[in-house]
Amino acid sequence: MAIHFQTHMILFMIFLMSCKLCIGTTYQPSELCPPMYPVGVPLTKMDIDLLQFAENLEYLEAEYFLYGAFGAGLEEFAPQLNNGGPPPIGARKANLDFLTQRIIEEFAFQEVGHLRALNYTVGLIPKPLLDISPETFATIMNEAFEYELDPPFDPYANSINYMLASYIIPYEGLVGYVGANQFLQGYKAKRLLAGLLGVEAGQDAVIRTYLYERAEELVYPYNHTVAEFTIRISELRNVLARCGIKDEGLFVPRELGAEMRITSNVLSANNESISYARTPEEILRTVYNSGNESIPGGFYPEGANGRIARQYLDY
Ligand SMILES: *[C@@H]1O[C@H](CO)[C@@H](O)[C@H](O)[C@H]1NC(C)=O
Ligand SMILES: *[C@@H]1O[C@H](CO)[C@@H](O)[C@H](O)[C@H]1NC(C)=O
Ligand SMILES: *[C@@H]1O[C@H](CO)[C@@H](O)[C@H](O)[C@H]1NC(C)=O
Ligand SMILES: *[C@@H]1O[C@H](CO)[C@@H](O)[C@H](O)[C@H]1NC(C)=O
Repeated sequence: MAIHFQTHMILFMIFLMSCKLCIGTTYQPSELCPPMYPVGVPLTKMDIDLLQFAENLEYLEAEYFLYGAFGAGLEEFAPQLNNGGPPPIGARKANLDFLTQRIIEEFAFQEVGHLRALNYTVGLIPKPLLDISPETFATIMNEAFEYELDPPFDPYANSINYMLASYIIPYEGLVGYVGANQFLQGYKAKRLLAGLLGVEAGQDAVIRTYLYERAEELVYPYNHTVAEFTIRISELRNVLARCGIKDEGLFVPRELGAEMRITSNVLSANNESISYARTPEEILRTVYNSGNESIPGGFYPEGANGRIARQYLDY
């Protein structure tokens, strides 16, 4: 009892001390945090194309997370950002437990912010038709396992299925931003990309850690563990993108682990533990689930929008 009381007193005093520091900070933010004045051009034509390409993925994430968390999408939550785009095919509210629900609600609102920032900086492309129906995810899982899962995989059935399906999505944004970065010239474009990349990487890390905690559990009613699902999905994406290994599951052969010393792989990265980079073509081959940037399908039955994606579709 006495020890407990002491601990509480110490914690309370620390709290008071830190609070005093907070209250002390009454200066104007501008005194210590002047705005940054970057040099050079704010935005080039190429920057706009690359960031507008990324909007395809941000739209996908926004609709997938908004529907998963709330059962409604951009049309309801941010009609101006929806741009009059068609409602996504097969979207629905996921059956999520309390923790997962909170995580996905936050991701969903983050995606709305991303679209707003993209709109301010480069303008929005029309939202493409998205197919986030259970059938799309079931097809991906069947291809990943190379046989028909029975019953078909349903991303919206429960929290673990939803997080496994989520494993597929922000990672594409992450590797796409890493790939686009070296082609950007304008400071506005770089500032936005770094900020988007930070949050996409964070979402991916949250999803992967969540799955890692459950890595050895079987995904009911299949005889496959959570880890196996991640490994199979990553392998499928490497095949579809046709550019070697740039995607790794939660466990890897030692040669692919950090410093070739471990098989545990909470994060997917190369042999210098640097995030992998993908080109728009590699991303399209994957998200179309066709292995070909000229053959739409998967999440984008009519193809992605913007100059970069359309050049492979409009002849
Ligand atoms: C999108 O950008 C346009 C042009 O800057 C602006 O008029 C519009 O209000 C923006 N929409 C949203 C939802 O921010
Ligand atoms: C489930 O998978 C394990 C490991 O791959 C295997 O040993 C076992 O026989 C499988 N069980 C069924 C019922 O298929
Ligand atoms: C890392 O991979 C690159 C490209 O595959 C290769 O050139 C390099 O030698 C590798 N570095 C180490 C330390 O294995
Ligand atoms: C991709 O699809 C296009 C259009 O059908 C075709 O012309 C091209 O050969 C395909 N590319 C590959 C590498 O299969």
